[in-house]
Amino acid sequence: MTILPIVWAPDPVLKIKCLHVNSVGEAEKQLMKDMLETMYNAPGVGLAAPQVGITKRIIVVDCARTDEPPAPYKMINPELIDTSKEEIINEEGCLSLPGHYADVSRPSTARVRYLDENGNQQIMDTEGLLAVCIQHEIDHINGILFVDHLSSLKRNMILKKMVKAKKER
Ligand code: NI
Repeated sequence: MTILPIVWAPDPVLKIKCLHVNSVGEAEKQLMKDMLETMYNAPGVGLAAPQVGITKRIIVVDCARTDEPPAPYKMINPELIDTSKEEIINEEGCLSLPGHYADVSRPSTARVRYLDENGNQQIMDTEGLLAVCIQHEIDHINGILFVDHLSSLKRNMILKKMVKAKKER
């Protein structure tokens, strides 16, 4: 397994609407293994393919608490097929915007349809942190960052700091 370099915002690859995956092959399986390894190493609770420079509709998440066993999900072509009207506010961060956090309001429950690593369609009902995390990652494959949910003032302030951080990286 490989720890992949994580792309930091602002970067054009993070603003792209990623491509639908037509078939799940060895390349996708290896990518998801490497993405999970990269996410755990960071550490983080979710990672989307564009964050490692790959513009495919692939995400991985694991929102298990530290006192729970790991609960990794690998999702190909994930889509929200239903979300609640009720929203919850959660402080979000992102491995592509290290050190920056902000409150984001999102539907508190989400039904997600995706292909698993064997190419089988799955439908999963999620709530709380897992629902939020999956919505954050699906945003990524549509070229949306959590800062895009903030006011332009807050967003620009964070992105300006990221430009500086990238120069010093
Ligand atoms: Ni993120």
